[in-house]
Amino acid sequence: MEKTLTSLDTIVSLAKRRGFVFPGSEIYGGLAGTFDYGPNGVELLNNLKRAWWKAQVYEKENYYGLDAAMFKHPRTWDASGHTKGFSDPLAECKECNARIRVDKELAAIGVTADEKMFIEELNALFDAHRNEIKCPKCGKKNFSAVRAFNLLVKSNLGDFTSDGSEPVFLPGEASQGIYLDYKNIVDSMNPKIPFGVVQIGKAFRNEISPRNFLFRTREFEQADTQYFIRPNENKEAYEHIKQDRWNWYLSLGIREENLRWHQHENLVFYAKDAWDIEYNFPSIGFDELEGIHDRSDYDLTQHQEFSGVDLRYTDPETGEKYIPWILETSVGMGRMFVAVLADAYREDELGGEKRAYLALAPRLAPYSAAVFPLLKNKPELVAKAREVYLVLKSAGIRIAFDDNGNIGKRYRRQDEIGTPFCITIDFDTLGETPELKDTVTLRHRDSGEQERLTIAEVSTRIRDAI
Ligand code: GAP
Repeated sequence: MEKTLTSLDTIVSLAKRRGFVFPGSEIYGGLAGTFDYGPNGVELLNNLKRAWWKAQVYEKENYYGLDAAMFKHPRTWDASGHTKGFSDPLAECKECNARIRVDKELAAIGVTADEKMFIEELNALFDAHRNEIKCPKCGKKNFSAVRAFNLLVKSNLGDFTSDGSEPVFLPGEASQGIYLDYKNIVDSMNPKIPFGVVQIGKAFRNEISPRNFLFRTREFEQADTQYFIRPNENKEAYEHIKQDRWNWYLSLGIREENLRWHQHENLVFYAKDAWDIEYNFPSIGFDELEGIHDRSDYDLTQHQEFSGVDLRYTDPETGEKYIPWILETSVGMGRMFVAVLADAYREDELGGEKRAYLALAPRLAPYSAAVFPLLKNKPELVAKAREVYLVLKSAGIRIAFDDNGNIGKRYRRQDEIGTPFCITIDFDTLGETPELKDTVTLRHRDSGEQERLTIAEVSTRIRDAI
């Protein structure tokens, strides 16, 4: 019986053991809220980004890519509202100085803190429940009052004051790059409304309590699409975009029962309507994977006002000038990565042995195939395996070579990183059974079934699958 995943720890441990994700700065004891993608992780991440870019830019009409600078003029974050309104409620433990995010701690005891609450209201709510909340570090219940903690991360780029009083912020959300370049895109590409601008960009947030692996980090990438539409034409387009994004996750092989919709009751400062696609993350439960926001004309109106530059669009059909409205989709690549890994994780028994494997879609797997010589100490087998490896590599297939340990162990290693095909070179490949000369065994990851094929057939099989 096949078993799927229940604990995030299983994924965290597999990710480290198999070179997907490492804790950031580990040799110095780590840096909270940072992670590094290892050799297999970066391949999966890049495959996800490529697939996402293809779906959002190449397969759509009138969508344009962008890669904006991370550092932006400081006024950007005043105009966007982030310097004032981008905060989380924080309280400090008076015993050990640990910091807690009050809304999350309240949620953990079943109390909902409204995102729009003033700090006084939040303090009253916290005071009513202080006795039920323990410090996660020392276990005591002696907290300070709640204060709003701004999440923007400061840099000192170009700030030559010695007190850091003119900070250039790192992006709190990647999408601001698209709004700042909106006019340049309109002037250079002449897009006809409605049109989309697409970007994968870094975001930084001073999260009070980064946690749950890649789910809540201080540095992360956001894959954003900003769809510029005529004013008041949001309703139908919004529904269409929501459905399109839902289908994207199904196309990655994510099981539909692990996805659900959540509409925000309390909207963040820029949104008119907001829906999340939630994923049933192991150990976390259903939580936000991607946000889909109706931002109306908020962002461009703000930037027009703060910059003094006319950001109105001249409609080629009507000649009318207006600030376009924006529908946004934004997903953290880290959350997408965890959802894909968690959903692909399986345990079963094969040939009487327990195994764990990743049933990744072949186009997403770090390696599309692996080649093994049956025995490491037979030079003729190794030479033939190298030859097959190079033929497939030159056919553009991302391929691994492994001659380390017995064949069973090599299969397990590839299963755990999700390699969909393993190719074994044996004595029949060399011509021991003449009619099998130049054929190999092709083993399928999920079923463990094997078939005998020529090298050309194997190449076609793999290319078709990816
Ligand atoms: N531009 C809109 C925006 O930034 P958001 O809901 O704050 O909206 C969008 O973020 C997505 O970014 C989330 O759905 C989530 O996938 C990801 N995200 C947000 N904060 C994150 C964090 N601290 N760590 C990892 N991913 C995060």
